[in-house]
Amino acid sequence: MAALKGKVALVTGAGGMRGVGRATALKLASQGADVAVTDIRRGAEDLPPAEVRTEWGGIEAVAGEVRSLGRRCLPIYCDLARANQIEDTVSRVVEEFGRLDILVNNARAIIGRDRVPVTELSREVWDHFMAINSTAVFLCTKAAGREMVRLGNGGRIINIASNAAKQASALGAAYSASKFAVIGLTQASALDLAPHGITVNAVCPGSINSGRLSYWERSRAEEEGVSLDALRAGILETASKAIPLGRVAESEDVANMVAFLASEDAGYITGQAYNVNGGLLFH
Ligand SMILES: NC(=O)c1ccc[n+]([C@@H]2O[C@H](COP(=O)([O-])OP(=O)(O)OC[C@H]3O[C@@H](n4cnc5c(N)ncnc54)[C@H](O)[C@@H]3O)[C@@H](O)[C@H]2O)c1
Repeated sequence: MAALKGKVALVTGAGGMRGVGRATALKLASQGADVAVTDIRRGAEDLPPAEVRTEWGGIEAVAGEVRSLGRRCLPIYCDLARANQIEDTVSRVVEEFGRLDILVNNARAIIGRDRVPVTELSREVWDHFMAINSTAVFLCTKAAGREMVRLGNGGRIINIASNAAKQASALGAAYSASKFAVIGLTQASALDLAPHGITVNAVCPGSINSGRLSYWERSRAEEEGVSLDALRAGILETASKAIPLGRVAESEDVANMVAFLASEDAGYITGQAYNVNGGLLFH
């Protein structure tokens, strides 16, 4: 299937071995798109243990996988806390490929340090979550949106939000607030960019089996004397029981929705926030 043949996509935070970013990059490439993938360089202490154990190659590995599908891939290290790096990234993509059709704002702040009552939440953690989960989505939208307008081919901007963008939980003030902001940004950007044929939508996943690192889960595993993988398996099993479809999402479930929103078939859809949550939440 080559529904995206000739298109160029930029996917942020795509270096995780089982993450939504990698699954999305591969899905878009399998449909014919050339892809730029970004991530931050993380030390072993900030990586999921499985990625350290297997010496996973991050965005370079994903680039290899995209190329093996016969598509071009540009891996770029970009710290989304730095506005200048975001602008440089978008410029590099357009220089390399001559166009930019699809932006997927997927990266997020590494979770865990935010998981405290609001009265215990540090200003530093709050600011970091806002910087990566909200402000960087704005800056990427601005930089990529400007290029899409200039190039005149229309475009697709897809923001990975969350269940937590619609329904907050206890210990989730920074994460939820940063993801609620993404919904507002999605709606306003959709209106601003509609005259240019650029759609802007959000995807709201529930729990995903993405293999991501959580500092909170790591501390809990240490306290309980179990491996992080074992703790995570228990959390996923409990979460699965609460989900009508009986399992948490795989990263590919989310990537499938992104690919649809990136396609020509989704050309009349903008400003929406689609749930991919196994029936957990309806609004
Ligand atoms: N995993 C879940 O259960 C879940 C649930 C709902 C929504 N989501 C959303 O789905 C998306 C993907 O989730 P995931 O679990 O694959 O993500 P993840 O936690 O593995 O993080 C995605 C990527 O963001 C990158 N990143 C972190 N800080 C960065 C920075 N400063 N600059 C650039 N990149 C940075 C990480 O290196 C990582 O590769 C996120 O937006 C997340 O909020 C995830």
